[in-house]
Amino acid sequence: MTLLQIMPDDAPDTVLLRTRDEDAIAQALRERSVSFSRWPRRAEVTPQTSSEELLDAYRAEVDELCADQGLRLVDVARLHPEEGAQWQERAAKARSTFLDEHRHAEDEVRFFAHGTGCFYLHLDDRVYAVVCEAGDLLSVPAGTRHWFDMGPVPDFCAIRFFEKEDGWVGDFTQEPIAEGFPRLDALLREG
Ligand SMILES: [Fe+2]
Repeated sequence: MTLLQIMPDDAPDTVLLRTRDEDAIAQALRERSVSFSRWPRRAEVTPQTSSEELLDAYRAEVDELCADQGLRLVDVARLHPEEGAQWQERAAKARSTFLDEHRHAEDEVRFFAHGTGCFYLHLDDRVYAVVCEAGDLLSVPAGTRHWFDMGPVPDFCAIRFFEKEDGWVGDFTQEPIAEGFPRLDALLREG
């Protein structure tokens, strides 16, 4: 289930709010101009589901969102657990990519069709950890400081939306803030 945990940016052990209530999560994020909503589940995603099949299943929602927000490019980012050291190496590399604080020139818009991933949004003096699950659509506004954790055993499939080809490029803040906050697995362990 989707989870929101809010912490002061200088006190990761202090939990100001922790909720799994969908409406409360959407409301708390809306107050910070972050849009969060849910789409109906249109497809059961397995490692065998092709990205084309997935995009076809969500075609109506995808087209509407693109038209509404001027998004031109859509792709699928995914990682499904596999056996072996090679996969582990690939997963660790993928996980590290956006594990440090950064921002983007355009909105980071993601729909989770399968699995789990956590966005940490650094909003003023707070960190909003948003654990996204299948069905969640999150839009991180351009310029927002944030980082992303796909966990020690990445298992997710997300539709990504971009305005430009290089919309995914991160501008890293070089701040070590992310290291002090609970990672995805720790957040979920807390109950
Ligand atoms: Fe990002």
